[in-house]
Amino acid sequence: MNKKIKKIFLKTYGCQMNVFDSERIEESLIKHGISKADNEINSDLIILNTCHIREKAAEKVYSELGRYRKLKQKNPELKVGVIGCVAQAEGQEIIQRSEIVDMVLGPQVYHRLPEIIKKLEVNEKVVDTDFPIEDKFEKLNLNKNNIRKTTSFLTIQEGCDKFCTFCVVPYTRGAERSRSPKIIIKEANELVDSGVKEITLLGQNVNAYCYENEKNQNVNFTNLIKLLCRIDNLKRLRFVTSHPRDMNEDLIQLFGQEEKLMPYLHLPIQSGSNKILKKMNRGHTVEYYLDIISRLKKIRPEIAISGDFIVGFPGETEVDFQKTLDVCKIIKYSQAYSFKYSPRTGTPSFEMKDIPDDIKSNRLLKLQETISLYQQQFQQNLIGSVQEVLIEKIGKFEDQYVGRTPYMNPVVLNSKQNQIGKIIPVKINSTNGLSLSGEYVT
Ligand code: 5AD
Ligand code: SF4
Repeated sequence: MNKKIKKIFLKTYGCQMNVFDSERIEESLIKHGISKADNEINSDLIILNTCHIREKAAEKVYSELGRYRKLKQKNPELKVGVIGCVAQAEGQEIIQRSEIVDMVLGPQVYHRLPEIIKKLEVNEKVVDTDFPIEDKFEKLNLNKNNIRKTTSFLTIQEGCDKFCTFCVVPYTRGAERSRSPKIIIKEANELVDSGVKEITLLGQNVNAYCYENEKNQNVNFTNLIKLLCRIDNLKRLRFVTSHPRDMNEDLIQLFGQEEKLMPYLHLPIQSGSNKILKKMNRGHTVEYYLDIISRLKKIRPEIAISGDFIVGFPGETEVDFQKTLDVCKIIKYSQAYSFKYSPRTGTPSFEMKDIPDDIKSNRLLKLQETISLYQQQFQQNLIGSVQEVLIEKIGKFEDQYVGRTPYMNPVVLNSKQNQIGKIIPVKINSTNGLSLSGEYVT
């Protein structure tokens, strides 16, 4: 007798898109009688949802698989699956490198999991890295009773056609595809009906969103946001990640028109040097980026800007790097993510001459110091003000709650009343550099 798969343990790495995919997988498997295991040992199937963006992230998969080899020796019935971007990029190779793997699935075929699980139950190995035309999320539908959250992600777009020379996403997530606005609105309504107050729209190039409807009309990102803002009980809307090339005037104007659209924008620039931006094939200059931000600030002066940076891209000199620091000083990011350049096989920049790691490490350190300085300054500026805070969860201590300002800063406060799901005025008293502390003002 083969063992039925009844419990899965899903471990997620990487971006919010992977987090969203994993949640949908777990929710949709419930109706097939498969539930979440609380740990690896109690599960019949371990799934790693993987990230391929940098070498370190991809290597983690193989070190985890090394651990699972021992578990499988103790429990030979245990199945192991690798899904996500490493699965898409490496396919069959994963099974060749690690024979304990039973299943390799790319990000677009998760809706096939119920059938695939049946194959695993009869000890078949499955590799599926297709790019089917159907929308996987229509089958991986929401399980409303399961949500019980204040904030939620909602994927509206996947893939990328920009082909930055350092990036694996166009290969692992495929071409840009937008989901139907009808289905997005339906899902947003379901989330809101279940208690969600804030939705973050997800896409690798979220502001490139464009869908041709039945009447051959294009619904673009601005149209979609306007539609979503009409949902009564939806209080806050955010989106991530945007590309500067798709920040058109309509979208900029929207920040002054839609109150529900939060004053926070994650807009990666990657480098402050035009020479490097060109080598990265970003398709925009520093001046173009700065102009977007200054137009946004005219419309919504208090808007918080966040970004992504890569240091040590091939050919980056000290002068180029200094220009990246200069951009930080001009924009004064409220927060930002920074990475050392990691050469990825199959991308155009893999062929370019990599620069020494100690230079990259030094630059990363300097950049992070600069980012942290402005992050702290942003938080300091909020001290003494009253902010509308959406309370998301309980804190570490009794009567403590954690929420976020419109600008995304985490806020910790005390309250005798359960405030989860409410937007309350909070006077900001202090900051520890990462989060703010405040008190509820009635
Ligand atoms: N090396 C380092 N960082 C990278 N990113 C993408 N590809 C690479 C790479 N090869 C960073 C970019 C992107 C973020 C999600 O990851 O900054 O915006
Ligand atoms: Fe990668 Fe560039 Fe596409 Fe962003 S825009 S996903 S960095 S290729």
